[in-house]
Amino acid sequence: MYRIIDGKKISQEIKDELKEKAEAMKARGEERCLAVIQVGSDPASSVYVNNKKKACAYIGIQSLSYELPEETTEEELIDIIRELNERKDVNGILVQLPLPKHINEDRVLLAIAPEKDVDGFHPVNVGNLSIGRPGYASCTPAGVIQLLKRSDIEIEGKECVVLGRSNIVGKPMAMLLLRENGTVTVCHSRTKNLKEITKRADILVVAVGKPKFVDESYVKEGAVVIDVGIHRNDGNKLCGDVDFESVAPHTSAITPVPGGVGPMTIAMLMSNCMM
Ligand code: GUN
Repeated sequence: MYRIIDGKKISQEIKDELKEKAEAMKARGEERCLAVIQVGSDPASSVYVNNKKKACAYIGIQSLSYELPEETTEEELIDIIRELNERKDVNGILVQLPLPKHINEDRVLLAIAPEKDVDGFHPVNVGNLSIGRPGYASCTPAGVIQLLKRSDIEIEGKECVVLGRSNIVGKPMAMLLLRENGTVTVCHSRTKNLKEITKRADILVVAVGKPKFVDESYVKEGAVVIDVGIHRNDGNKLCGDVDFESVAPHTSAITPVPGGVGPMTIAMLMSNCMM
């Protein structure tokens, strides 16, 4: 029988721990503040940004909200970031992605002071993660590590396979699993004999960005399967990169979509804000 890893419950535990930490800080006269910047009004981004502000309010982190028009120039955006970099009362800066096409995402992310980059996207934080120095780690893969640890799933010595190589999930996921002493393989859409590799995994993290891409033929009997994908199917129902119905009976533990990795991203953002 397999276990369902309950990301909703685990993310709530983390937020409650952070709320206590924030209360203790406040008692010492300290407070945390996250600046959230959104350019344009992409509806999905607006939902994410609102959820981030709500999580801040729940924990007791101040939030500053910048809702900038679609026509905002790269220079204007970078000017705002530079101001926030200087502000002593702001400790976290988050620019919601994607940005409008006329703005260069790399230049914007580079403008954020690494010590305020709570998303963990700045090359300095990416570099620190890869050489095992302290810094902010990307929230979704950090959330996956917490799901595993808090479900008492050992990473050390295990065959960990990451399917997907994005800068936000796949690559930092590999680095974090390596930091936990996993034996890590990264594979992707161009990998030859993909199933042979994914079938080696004791822990398979799927972040390939294709709905229900992974079926039972990709999974070793008894593996732990973590599904980072989130898609809406034709019936407007949410599904992941993993075909849950077909895969779950062959696993020892699996994350559902929704209610698996999804809620962990914001919990880890909040954790980064409280560091
Ligand atoms: N857009 C989609 N996911 C994310 C995220 O984790 N951080 C930011 N800033 N933008 C996103």
